[in-house]
Amino acid sequence: MYSEKVMDHFMNPRNVGEIENPDGVGQVGNAKCGDIMKIYLKIEDNRIVDIKFKTFGCGAAIATSSMATELVKGKTIEEALALTNKAVADALDGLPPVKMHCSILAEEAIKAAIEDYRSKQLVSSK
Ligand code: FES
Repeated sequence: MYSEKVMDHFMNPRNVGEIENPDGVGQVGNAKCGDIMKIYLKIEDNRIVDIKFKTFGCGAAIATSSMATELVKGKTIEEALALTNKAVADALDGLPPVKMHCSILAEEAIKAAIEDYRSKQLVSSK
């Protein structure tokens, strides 16, 4: 039922952990199942130079977080904001329909972390 890529990212998730003194942190909960994801960003010159995640969730949530962090690493903030859960699922060769909601966590957590980064920028430029 899961693609090889999903299994690989579930068994060997990339970018798991925390970043000390992150530039942005985003935490979201999945309304459907209550699972939680936290994303940490390090940003330099408008680019995501490092990203880590922690997911308290199912295998599909872990695999999509892992793939999403790989996809936005090295990208600009604007490129990262354009990432959709569908693009993440496609990069994993698809998810079973009942698991598509799990992939929303990664997209939303990245957006929340970027928003956190932007709000901190506003405060420090005052
Ligand atoms: Fe909760 Fe997948 S069942 S994120």
